[in-house]
Amino acid sequence: MTPEIIVNGKKLEEIKDQCLGIAFFEDNLKLRNEIKNLDNSINNAIGNSIKNKDFKAEKNEVKTFYINKNIKYLALLGLGKENDFDLNKLMDATSNLSKKLRNSGIETFSLALNSFKNKNYEHDIYLEKITQAITLSLYQFTKFKTRDLDKIKSIKKVTIILDNEHLKNSEKIANEASIYAEAVNKTRDLINTPPNIATPDYVATAAADAGKKNGIKCTILDEKQIEKLGMGCIMAVARGSSHKPRIFVLEYNGNGNEMPIVLVGKGVTFDTGGINIKPSSYLTTMKDDKAGACGIINILEACARLKLKLNVIGIGALAENMIGSSSYRPDDVLKSHSGLTVEIVNTDAEGRLLVADALSYSLKYKPQAVIDVATLTGASIVALGYFASPVLGNDQKLIDKIKAASEKSLEKIWQFPLWDEYKDLIKSDIADIRHHHGGIDAGVMVGGIFLKNFVKDVPWAHIDIGNTVWAKQEKGYTVKGATGFSVLLLLNLLRDWK
Ligand code: BES
Ligand code: MN
Ligand code: ZN
Repeated sequence: MTPEIIVNGKKLEEIKDQCLGIAFFEDNLKLRNEIKNLDNSINNAIGNSIKNKDFKAEKNEVKTFYINKNIKYLALLGLGKENDFDLNKLMDATSNLSKKLRNSGIETFSLALNSFKNKNYEHDIYLEKITQAITLSLYQFTKFKTRDLDKIKSIKKVTIILDNEHLKNSEKIANEASIYAEAVNKTRDLINTPPNIATPDYVATAAADAGKKNGIKCTILDEKQIEKLGMGCIMAVARGSSHKPRIFVLEYNGNGNEMPIVLVGKGVTFDTGGINIKPSSYLTTMKDDKAGACGIINILEACARLKLKLNVIGIGALAENMIGSSSYRPDDVLKSHSGLTVEIVNTDAEGRLLVADALSYSLKYKPQAVIDVATLTGASIVALGYFASPVLGNDQKLIDKIKAASEKSLEKIWQFPLWDEYKDLIKSDIADIRHHHGGIDAGVMVGGIFLKNFVKDVPWAHIDIGNTVWAKQEKGYTVKGATGFSVLLLLNLLRDWK
C-alpha cells in the first residue's frame, strides 16, 4: 500500500510517467532552464498557463493539464510566497498534491524536487521531508473493508527527480526517510486496529514479531510474571478485564555495552475509565490509548533498520481498563513495583499507573535516560489544543535535546513545569502518594509530578500525547484517525543523540 519512492537524475523532458508535478512560488514565476526545456517539448503548456494567469501559484493551488506526450498529465502546484515558505509548507504542499493525484485515479507520478526548493535549507532536508510527506499523506487504513475494494485508489510509485550531482547520496536519504515514514504508518495501523482485536496480547505479539523480523531481542512478560515482579499498579488496572496484561521489552543493541536509552510506552488497549466510567462521547476512539506502546515497537524496528549506533530499550505496558466485579476502585491502595503505596482517586487516571510500574522496572537496565510516551491526559488538549504535546521532566539537558529533535521532526512539543508546588496536590493521608488530585487544575503537571516519583534521579522526560494522538480532521500529511505522533520526534532524537 505504501508507494515505492525512487530518485532519478533524468532531465525533465525525458521523464515518462502518468503525471509530472512541478511547483512554483507565486512571486517567482520565471521558468528556469530545466523547466524551459521541458516546456519546449510540451508546446509551452507551462509558460502559456502562467502568461494567461490560468495558474498563479497561490498557496495550495493545483492545476492539471492533459499533455499526452512523455507525460500524460502535468500538475502545476502553487507554493505561495517564497518568503513565507518553510518545511511545514513543503510538507503540506506535497501532501495535498499527492492526495489530489491519488484521488483523481493516477497511480504513478514524478515530482521535480528543484521546483520545491528555496534557499533556506540543504538539499537533503527537502528530499527527506518530501519523501515523508508522500508516504505519510497517502496512508489509508483499509484492513477491515471487504466491499468495493476496487474503488480504493492508491499510488504505486513516486519518482523524485533531482540533479544528477545529488543522485548518489539521495538514494540513501530517501531510503532513510521512508523508514521513518513507514514506522509512523505502521504505528497508525496498530493504533487504528479495533480494541476487540488489538488486545494486550495482540500488541505484545506485534512487538515480538517486530523483534524477530529485525533481530531485536524481545521478552514478553505475562500476568504471572508481572504479578511476581510486584507490579501492583499494572495488575490493578488490568483486573477488570478478561484480557490479561502484558509487558514487552525490546532490546536493540547497536553499541556494545553503552548504557541504554529506555523508551516506555502506555498501552491501554481500551480505556473505559473503569469504575469512574467515561461519558459516552468520550468512549469512542479510546482504542487510541495504546498509542505510546505502539509507537515504541516501530521506533525500535526503525532503529534496527537504520542500524543506529546506540543501545535502545523499548518497554510497553499493556492492559485494558475495563469494568467488572474485579475492577480496581477509587479508595484502593496499591503497592507499586517501586515499593511506594498509591492511593487511587479516579480509576480513569489509569495510564500513570501502568507507566509508573514500567518506569520503575526500566531502572534495572541502568539507563542513561528514560523517556515515556503516553496518552496520559485530556488536560493536554485543554492546555495546548491539538498541535503540540506537553513535555516535562527532571533533566533540562534531556528536554533540550527533545526540543531540538522537535524542531527537526516538525512534531511540536512544549515544555511544562514540574515545580515542587505540584507535589502537595497528590499527598495522601493514608498511603505514600495519591495518583491524582481529583481536580481539573494542572492536569498535565499532576500526571508528570506523579511519574517523577518512579525514576529516582535518572534523567527522565515524559511526553503526553493525549492531545496529538488522534486527528478528527485531515490536514497536510495527517490523515483522519491515529496520527503516529512521537515516532518522528523520537527517531530524530535517537538519530542525533550524543
Ligand atoms: N487516556 C486518557 C487521556 C485521554 C483523553 C487521551 C482523551 C486522549 C484523549 C486518560 O487515561 C484519562 O482518562 N485521563 C483523564 C483523567 C481524569 C479523569 C482523572 C483525563 O485527563 O481526563
Ligand atoms: Mn483513563
Ligand atoms: Zn487512558
